[in-house]
Amino acid sequence: MASLPLLPFLRLLLLLRLLLLLLEGPSAARASLLGTLPEGAAPCKAGELCLRAPLGKSDPPPVNVSLYYESLCPGCRYFLVRELFPTWLLVQEILNVTLVPYGNAQERNISGKWEFTCQHGEQECKLNKVEACLLDQLERNVAFLTIVCLEEMDDMEKNLKPCLQIYAPKVSPDTIMECAMGDRGMQLLHINAQLTDALQPPHEYVPWVVVNGKPMKKQGQLLRLVCQLYQGEKPDVCQIMTSSHKEVCFK
Ligand SMILES: *[C@@H]1O[C@H](CO)[C@@H](O)[C@H](O)[C@H]1NC(C)=O
Ligand SMILES: *[C@@H]1O[C@H](CO)[C@@H](O)[C@H](O)[C@H]1NC(C)=O
Ligand SMILES: *[C@@H]1O[C@H](CO)[C@@H](O)[C@H](O)[C@H]1NC(C)=O
Repeated sequence: MASLPLLPFLRLLLLLRLLLLLLEGPSAARASLLGTLPEGAAPCKAGELCLRAPLGKSDPPPVNVSLYYESLCPGCRYFLVRELFPTWLLVQEILNVTLVPYGNAQERNISGKWEFTCQHGEQECKLNKVEACLLDQLERNVAFLTIVCLEEMDDMEKNLKPCLQIYAPKVSPDTIMECAMGDRGMQLLHINAQLTDALQPPHEYVPWVVVNGKPMKKQGQLLRLVCQLYQGEKPDVCQIMTSSHKEVCFK
């Protein structure tokens, strides 16, 4: 894996932002991670890293970032946890993230039921379905955070319960497993198969990252690219980036 020169910088920014959030209390941090502005949150002052309200109707649309991946591929996990998640933490208000777990899997119609073959074996197919079910049954941001939590763990199946307890304490892991092992999980993975197979241009490998409809082939530049593509007033983090770095080449 190529080294990411951005990471030390990112960590610093993340730390600052999380510190600010923690100063407001854990419930504010949680609320803001889940996309709602905590009650009484102070408006942003110039030069401060602070929470922004979600985009209003008159704001330009967010940047679409879609990740086509499979649950057990190391490069996918690295991208999701070390690049997409930090970017989301920093500029979630201008991002529209879509996760499509399926990746290089294959499907066959066996007498009316879809059967899947996954690059990293049965367990990967099962976990792809678990994640498809999370995306289907949880609110968007909650699903994203729960999947990031899982993908950081060695034993994802065993950690479904603790990850749900953090982000969606009311959702039982049994409900998710029932979905994953049943017809619903099969249907959801089939939909992801169709989304993946319909990619134009087709995906060449995983993780396959599509930003505003175009593949992003170089890793380590997502934050900069999102800042560059966003047409509206840029978050503070973006201003820091553009003042100290070159433009990303994205054709
Ligand atoms: C976010 O992406 C989804 C597709 O994944 C799309 O249906 C939705 O319209 C997008 N939202 C915005 C605001 O662009
Ligand atoms: C799957 O196979 C069954 C019979 O084996 C057939 O009736 C059905 O139309 C097939 N579905 C698709 C989407 O190909
Ligand atoms: C994001 O995707 C949605 C749905 O496909 C589309 O309507 C919207 O224009 C896209 N946004 C941008 C900035 O490309």
